[in-house]
Amino acid sequence: MKLLKKPFHWGVATSALQTEGASYLDGKGPSIWDEFSLRKGKIAGGHTPEIANSFYYRYEEDLDIVQALHIPNFRFSISWPRVLPQGTRNINQKGIDFYDRLIDACLERGITPWVTLYHWDLPLQLELNGGWNNRDILSWFSEYVELMLQKFGDRVSNWMVLNEPLVFTGAGYFLGIHAPGKKGMNSFLSAAHHASLAQAVGIRQIKEHNALFNVGTTYSCSWITPFSDSPNDQQAAVRVDALMNRFFVEPLLGYGYPVKDLPFLKEIEKFYQKDDETLLKATPDFIGIQNYTREVVKHSWFTPYINAKLIDARTRQVPHTLLNWEIYPEGIHSLIHKYAAYPEVKNIIVSENGAAFPDHVTGNEIKDSQRLSYLKNYMLHINRARMDCSKLCGYFVWSLHDNFEWAEGYYPRFGLVHIDYSNQKRTIKESGYWYKNHILNQKYEDKIQHEHQLFNTKEER
Ligand code: GAL
Repeated sequence: MKLLKKPFHWGVATSALQTEGASYLDGKGPSIWDEFSLRKGKIAGGHTPEIANSFYYRYEEDLDIVQALHIPNFRFSISWPRVLPQGTRNINQKGIDFYDRLIDACLERGITPWVTLYHWDLPLQLELNGGWNNRDILSWFSEYVELMLQKFGDRVSNWMVLNEPLVFTGAGYFLGIHAPGKKGMNSFLSAAHHASLAQAVGIRQIKEHNALFNVGTTYSCSWITPFSDSPNDQQAAVRVDALMNRFFVEPLLGYGYPVKDLPFLKEIEKFYQKDDETLLKATPDFIGIQNYTREVVKHSWFTPYINAKLIDARTRQVPHTLLNWEIYPEGIHSLIHKYAAYPEVKNIIVSENGAAFPDHVTGNEIKDSQRLSYLKNYMLHINRARMDCSKLCGYFVWSLHDNFEWAEGYYPRFGLVHIDYSNQKRTIKESGYWYKNHILNQKYEDKIQHEHQLFNTKEER
């Protein structure tokens, strides 16, 4: 008997800090990003997430749009400091009520909620106690996860534990360009090790709560190409690949950190405690991969630790987005296969893909032709992967609407829906309408294929 294809999850993704606003309202505690954004010169344009898309008040209007666009899956994150203002102990009931309403509003519209537990907005109080550098983060996180399971586990069955650990530890604890603005290798390695353990803690805890839940965690990833055939550039590319694409996924899958290809990682062992090698491992139902671009890598003696530098898209004069990220659609197909090659990876969901471009607003129409062409081209490779990789089972566009793009402020717009920040007006862009038709067509094709398979199976019997 032939196996029937698994259902494919089409969706859109958002995060709490980037959309909710209401940063200091209804009992929410401050997050590291609320504090960081008030520091001079940290966020482009001096922007803050205080109001953002006002999703806290406008979630119903936004979910109406998701429903009108026939998008069946909605990924959002829970703001830890909204439900536990100090990070632990005292619960903010108004925060719980908000996510109760949000989840119910999804379900009433036939939209499946996918909850990310940590999308970078650590409660400020926990950072004051050491944040990701303090191993106690594991028990703080576990307390928070338990509360979320107790409150929402009756209606949410799809969970993503962490969003992009490399980015929040690398940019936040090594480069200091994201919250909490810490710098240095020690700070990075301890944060990274605790984040690695936390992803495993979260996965185990959710599966223990309910073995039927669909649990994963997400990773930033970029296809890596050496700048030239020289052995130096080739080896530099291996190091950057280990850092950007393997560092967090391999310990989870049981391989440990990729120390052989990235010798400086050996230092992370000084943060090990008894049994950590085992504790780093867990069995996710899926991994979420988040891909926007590729990186071209050249050897460099001047970059400490990795002896490699990235040659940016403008310098290489290749097509790129507003953020100078190369548009390289075939990379997403290669990455899906790269992760599918790990036997321990059961399923893959592209949990983010999208692009920032300047949009042209004409009256009530938004012709975002560059985003449209970006998405269409990436989709060709998603479709290819659906045909040749049985592990791929979902794709989420980043993002539903334009939002607070971290250190870049509100300037880069990634949304399928435009936000006019002067009055919070939502306008669906051309790319949004295209995605709607794409999903409807795909569902129709999947249905036909499913019926064919059923028919053939009956014939074979
Ligand atoms: C990801 C991140 C999102 C979003 C996106 C676009 O790294 O998870 O929150 O900002 O990039 O840059």
